[in-house]
Amino acid sequence: MSDTSRLAGRRILLVVSGSIAAYKALELARLLGKAGAEVTGLLTGGGTRFVTPHALQAITGRPLAQDLWSLEEEGEGRGHIALARQHDLIVVAPASADRLARMAAGFAEDLAGATLLATQAPVLVAPAMNWAMWSHPATIANAAILANRGVRFVGPEDGAMAEAESGPGRLAEPPAILAAIAELLADPAPQEPDLALEAALDEAIAAGDAPGPLEGRHVLVTSGPTHEPIDPVRYIANRSSGKQGHAIAAALAALGARVTLVAGPVAMPDPAGVEVVRVESAREMLAACEAALPAEAAICAAAVADWRPAHLATGKIKKREGAAPPSLELVPNPDILATLSHHARRPRLVVGFAAETEALMANARAKLARKGCDWIVANDVSGDVMGGDENAVHLVTREGVEDWPRMAKEAVAARLAARVAAELDAMTAGAPPVPGERP
Ligand code: C5P
Repeated sequence: MSDTSRLAGRRILLVVSGSIAAYKALELARLLGKAGAEVTGLLTGGGTRFVTPHALQAITGRPLAQDLWSLEEEGEGRGHIALARQHDLIVVAPASADRLARMAAGFAEDLAGATLLATQAPVLVAPAMNWAMWSHPATIANAAILANRGVRFVGPEDGAMAEAESGPGRLAEPPAILAAIAELLADPAPQEPDLALEAALDEAIAAGDAPGPLEGRHVLVTSGPTHEPIDPVRYIANRSSGKQGHAIAAALAALGARVTLVAGPVAMPDPAGVEVVRVESAREMLAACEAALPAEAAICAAAVADWRPAHLATGKIKKREGAAPPSLELVPNPDILATLSHHARRPRLVVGFAAETEALMANARAKLARKGCDWIVANDVSGDVMGGDENAVHLVTREGVEDWPRMAKEAVAARLAARVAAELDAMTAGAPPVPGERP
């Protein structure tokens, strides 16, 4: 049980948007009041279709906020700026798919939008919608954008829905929302927002019969290091563990993609539901990638060796007493990312990684142009990233840079997979599918 005693005297703005679950907002308002919080209700246009202003005002015991253009509300201190500043926390419960989209886009055409845009208070969102709406790539992308900004999520849960269907998208129960409010008031610093959200998104896809947003799409992923043989027993290698690439393959599969994972030598188990092609060298990796085309997206997370020995000794190179050590002549390896980016059967979306120890962003931007890919996931590998469980990355696109908070590699993978789903969706709206890929 969470400690709700810290709610006493705290000012909470309860935004109720349009969802059949809005009736539960009344129960939440009651629980908040019981815990000693001062609750003001804000009803959106959609919200008024499901609960009446009278009910919300009566249960909070405070004048309601409703209309951005009401001189009366403004005059009584319920204008958007006052509402944004006077509250310790804003909770949007239920948050409809439309409300999440408006929040993600920063719309301010109604009182809820303007208030949420003007506030610096922590914001908690409790989504509620049909499972298909929650699982749609647009909603997934909107939720990821909000989580990335530090908005916290509670729910949605999996269960019975209004349409006599069942799935993920059910509003969290009022006591759970109350507990999340108490927790957020105790620790308003932005959390690792993704962990809870990405888990919920994963569940949303895995649970029930919801088809994933990448259903029917083929995605190619490279992962791990390559080994470049010197002789039959020696090779050049690097410290890549394959954790990030394998997690990406798993996250894409969880969203319904058919995934081909071309993996260098790693100790990682094969992710479930993924076709794994094991290779050793960069040249084998390139051949396996080309054989896997066509694909709608390629995510090149492998740490491919830049060079290989010019000559492969057929027998073990002998150490000779008193003789100088052998010198190793190196030749460049093919660049798989650049090759895929300029391929006749180029995937629609090509994503590379940039592992740098210095001038991270400048190098990442230069790499985007040099390789011809669409996105670069840039990470600083000067710490313990290689082989570690966490990653702090920046997503570099042609439009700009997103700084993602440090999080588990699985969370980076889930967020990247959601972005890939949303991007492919946007790219293929009305466009024919990649030949041979979709029925
Ligand atoms: O040039 P650099 O190795 O820093 O680029 C890293 C990105 O390029 C990664 O996405 C990696 O998978 C890809 N790469 C590749 N083939 C190479 C070298 C790098 O696909 N030979």
